[in-house]
Amino acid sequence: MGDPGRLEEGGARGAPLSINPKPAKDQATAVPNPSTMQTAAKQGDQDLPVTIPEEKHLRETQELTADVMKYRVENGRTYHGFKEHLRYVLPNDESEKRRLDVQHYLTYLTLEGRLYLCPAGRDRPIRTCLDAGTGTGSWALEFAQEHPDTEVIGIDISPIQPEYVPPNVCFQIDDVEDDWNYDEPFDFIFCRMLTGAIADWTRFFKQSFANLEPGGWCEVQDIVAPIQCSDGTLDPDSPLATWSRDLLRATQLAGRGIDGAKLYKRQMEEAGFVNVKEEIFIWPQCPWADDDYYRMLGRWADVAITGGLESLSTALFTRHLGWKKAELDVYLTQVRKQMRDRGVHAYWTIYMVYGQKPE
Ligand SMILES: C[S@@+](CC[C@H](N)C(=O)[O-])C[C@H]1O[C@@H](n2cnc3c(N)ncnc32)[C@H](O)[C@@H]1O
Repeated sequence: MGDPGRLEEGGARGAPLSINPKPAKDQATAVPNPSTMQTAAKQGDQDLPVTIPEEKHLRETQELTADVMKYRVENGRTYHGFKEHLRYVLPNDESEKRRLDVQHYLTYLTLEGRLYLCPAGRDRPIRTCLDAGTGTGSWALEFAQEHPDTEVIGIDISPIQPEYVPPNVCFQIDDVEDDWNYDEPFDFIFCRMLTGAIADWTRFFKQSFANLEPGGWCEVQDIVAPIQCSDGTLDPDSPLATWSRDLLRATQLAGRGIDGAKLYKRQMEEAGFVNVKEEIFIWPQCPWADDDYYRMLGRWADVAITGGLESLSTALFTRHLGWKKAELDVYLTQVRKQMRDRGVHAYWTIYMVYGQKPE
């Protein structure tokens, strides 16, 4: 177990690798080749700038900050080091990367093989696309494969994207909550599962609007807490119901409530978007449904959410609700058991909201 706040071994000691504190967007920190960065970080008691070759979206070779790789270790999990003050609440280690990829597949199944709902690309080509908070980059990579003529930029505060990517994909380390300063407007801005990460969604939609071409589309897909149940099989005082309310409360204390997606439609309209549509999907918590489609979603939700229960809970409960890790582990055992009980017909609501910048 690591001490809260301890920096992971391998993070640079001594003088940090240098970088502009806030690079202009055309100089945003390109995602390092992880193997190169590891090597550099291990030699990090010397001041070794890590450079990458010039890329399409980079005017000049950059020196990369060691902060990007200087992960925090808390309760045995690693968390982002870049802009540490953001205190994003989900880990960025191998286990969380696998969970994100399962969740990506679950969303893909939810949309029956589609990556997004909005009409982007139907009436005119998508020249450029931004995936804000790209995670492992699975969505960006699949989107890029489907749209080989689109330039796709995926940004994230953690460098957890693959090293080898198709030529039309570029991953950058950047903070979506910062001022956007892109050279060119996008045709499509996509953002999935950033609830709990972004404090000011009104600003996110305003920046998206300002950074879209006229006629361009923005789509946001997010889960909403607390967990729901329509037939009385989830006792409101049970571990699962209590846990999901506590999770929401913790995110609210962190200033990033995970019930925010209910407001996206209104916030998009207020930002100036037109043709705004909200569609709500359901993820059964486990395979309790009779219907084949929902039973399949329940199987994958069980993997992504029950399987990721520790990922989802640890920072929120220990940082914001004052729980000790050991007592949390005991509690999560009860929550996990109830999550897998097919007699409990609990489900999550997934909001998908999109809108267009007027022509
Ligand atoms: C739950 S994951 C979703 C990843 C991806 N969009 C997906 O659906 O697979 C949220 C991601 O947002 C990133 N993130 C959190 N705060 C961010 C910020 N301020 N700027 C950029 N990325 C951020 C996290 O590092 C994480 O990879």
